Amino acid sequence: MQDTLTALVTKAQTDLAALQARPEFEAAKARFVGPNGELTALMKQMGSVPKEEKPAMGKLINEAKGKIQALLDAALQRIEAGELTRQLGAAVDPTLPSPDVGPGTYHPLTLVREEMCRILRKVGFTVADGPEVETEFYCFDALNTPSDHPARDAQDTFYFPETARFGNVSKKTPNEKYLLRTHTSSVQIRTMLQGKPPIRIVSPGRVYRRDTTDASHSANFHQLECLYVDRNVTVRDLKALLDYIFESLLGAGTKTRFRPHYFGYTEPSFEVDLSAKHLPKVNKEWIEIGGCGMVDPLVFETVGYDSTVWSGYAFGMGLERLAMTLYGIDDIRYFYQNDLRFLKQFA
Ligand code: DAH
Repeated sequence: MQDTLTALVTKAQTDLAALQARPEFEAAKARFVGPNGELTALMKQMGSVPKEEKPAMGKLINEAKGKIQALLDAALQRIEAGELTRQLGAAVDPTLPSPDVGPGTYHPLTLVREEMCRILRKVGFTVADGPEVETEFYCFDALNTPSDHPARDAQDTFYFPETARFGNVSKKTPNEKYLLRTHTSSVQIRTMLQGKPPIRIVSPGRVYRRDTTDASHSANFHQLECLYVDRNVTVRDLKALLDYIFESLLGAGTKTRFRPHYFGYTEPSFEVDLSAKHLPKVNKEWIEIGGCGMVDPLVFETVGYDSTVWSGYAFGMGLERLAMTLYGIDDIRYFYQNDLRFLKQFA
């Protein structure tokens, strides 16, 4: 009898450990402890055991019963846990503390973009948007930068294959190509074609260049474009606005300077430098921040504005550069790495 009991417990051990689902479990349970089960059958044999052996025998049977019951409980627990995991998806452990790290923070580029838009809204600018997938017309041709112009070479960038179709960005001519915009200046054309002067818009957004990534270059970055069209606009208005926005963003003592330059869509054209020596980590006298100028009459003609009536200024600048100056960041790559140690500093 003792050997039979030991064998039964060993059998229960192997059988129950192999169980995967509840129906199998119920069947196994019946096989061992059900009314017709093996243990039940052994218990029934107690009747024929001699009286003096009964206490010892009873003890053995009770021990075996306890062991088998413990095995059954463990098997059921394992099967139930498996069912729960399958229901929730294997990755979820509902007993773990919540992985929620609390409210996030704005990205430094978002902070600077929003601050610049706020500063410009105060003086009457509204925010305009344009697509990142552009056509050559908006990105170059309408901005007086024809396909054989050397200025286009420097910005020659990510073109899509002829077969690519973007239903929401329509081409002006059938054989012009789609490309990722190299600057936000394309929004100038879109805005002028959509509306009538006077115009006063700011357009922040992502742009793409054929640049090799290093501490100060990235193949995609962000710009902020402004366009102002009205009667009698002068370079003086342009300089005054730039002085105002940089001083608002970077504080009193910020200086702006123009250097003569060439852009196809402005005449005259300038590069804009700023100096903000009062900021903690600015150790350069002048930081190149963008380009600007008076809207070229040829651009007005392309969008159907009478260039003897309308005048305007435009400028575009890099948002990363601005944020780097403001916060004293020395490597552009920090903006895109999603490193919480970096991002949390802007909370
Ligand atoms: N689009 C120029 C660039 O990406 C910047 C620029 C220059 C924008 C002159 C303008 C402008 O609006 O008038 O380098």
